[in-house]
Formats: sequence, C-alpha cells, structure tokens
Amino acid sequence: MKKQTTNGYTEIFAHRGYRVVAPENTFPAFEAALAYDIDGLEIDVHRTLDGELVIMHDETVDRTTNGTGFIKDMTLNDIKALDAGIYKEPKFPGTTVPTLREFLTFLREKNFTGKLLIEVKTDHVAYDGIEAQILAMVTSFEPTYEVLYQSFNLATLREFRKLDKTLSLAALVSWATPRVYWRRFLGDFTYLHPNIKALEMRPRYFWSAGRHLRPWTVDKDNQLEHVFAQTLPGVITNEVAKAVAIREKIQGDGQ
Ligand code: G3P
Ligand code: CA
Repeated sequence: MKKQTTNGYTEIFAHRGYRVVAPENTFPAFEAALAYDIDGLEIDVHRTLDGELVIMHDETVDRTTNGTGFIKDMTLNDIKALDAGIYKEPKFPGTTVPTLREFLTFLREKNFTGKLLIEVKTDHVAYDGIEAQILAMVTSFEPTYEVLYQSFNLATLREFRKLDKTLSLAALVSWATPRVYWRRFLGDFTYLHPNIKALEMRPRYFWSAGRHLRPWTVDKDNQLEHVFAQTLPGVITNEVAKAVAIREKIQGDGQ
C-alpha cells in the first residue's frame, strides 16, 4: 500500500480482487491483488436465503460456479457446496464462495492497511435491511483500515447515510442524472463512481462532482494513462499489474 500524497496520486482498487488471474471475488483473487502495490480491494455483497452475507458479483451463481440459481433462494450450505474456481481455470478447483465474515477475518489476519470498497448489490434484488446488517458485521470487526460503501441503488446509500453520518459513500453510475446530483447535494454520498465509457464520452456531465470521481472498470492502457494524468482520486480496475506499472510511470512512486 502506498502513502497518499497531496500533490497528485490515484488510488488503485482491484475490482473483485485480481480477477484477470484468479476467480473473481475469491481468496485466490484477493491474495493475487495484495501481491501488488494497490490501495484497495473491491468486493460485491449479496445475501442468502438463510440471511448470510456472501461475496459474489451476480445475482445468480450460474456464471461463476458449477451451480445454478439465485443466491437469495439458496442457503449458505447450498452456496458453500459449489465450486467457485472451476469456471475460471482448472488450477483453482475447490475454491468456495467467501462469506463477508470470512473475508473480514482474512483482512484482519493479513493486517490489511488499504481501503475496502464494498459494493452492496441491491440494484436487482431487494435485500431488506442488508445495509444495517453489513454495517453491523463490519463494525464488529473494528477495522483499522478504511471502509467505503458503494451501490447503484441510491436508496441503499440513503439508508447507509441514515445509519451513520460519517460513512464514506459513493454512487455507482453509468450516467450522472439530475437525480444523482440532487441526492449528492442532499448529502447521501460524496463520491461518484462512473463507468469509464461515460466519463470518456461526456466528461462535462461529471464536472460538478469536481474531483470526487473514481471510474470503473478502467482496463485499457490509454484509459489508465488518462486517469493517472488527471490524478483522479481513484480508479477501479481488473488490470492490477498494468495499472500499478502505468501509475508508477506517470505519477512516480507516490512517496
Ligand atoms: O466497482 C465498480 C464496479 O464493480 C461496478 O460494476 O457490475 O462490476 O459490480 P460491477
Ligand atoms: Ca462491483
């Protein structure tokens, strides 16, 4: 992890871990990301039928495991019985879906000093009360690292804000609509995390967010170069090694 300076430094967040080299949102991917000079890990959180918080991207297990079905309709035992590594490469057999509790334990054991970016996946499935549940779990670990929360669902961000005025909150957006800016004005969140394609096509749509931008998913050389040259505060990327190398070239070592 690098020491942040005030004169131009962009934090790198590994998107679902280092998912280019290992199955996304699994411990091999988190371990792989932490081998690089990154600043943060991004994860996605859903909830099982029996109320357990699990780290997966999609609403269903179909794409990233050998099973089928919606997470919300499966118990933790159902999910834990699945192989979450085999879809990627045969060299990750037996990899299971982590729970949020297991992941927070892993960070504690690693003495993690970066930032944890938790995406709350309430944009397609309503998980009633998941915001308070996640916050309670994170708080119970008394993290010594910074935790940020993001969601495409503005109501989820509003709920987090109601729960704790001091949380670091970010809205995931494809396009920054007037509603997004209105909710930001009201204090529901500070940062915008825009799709890099939207930011490239219509940068003026984002001017009023000032420098509070961390785009995703920034993987191409020219995109990374642009973001680092602009010294945006953060970038969310699949291409961990490439991002670290390009940042070093453009911004130096950040010390
Ligand atoms: O962190 C930003 C990014 O994760 C948002 O999109 O679909 O990859 O969760 P998605
Ligand atoms: Ca995500």
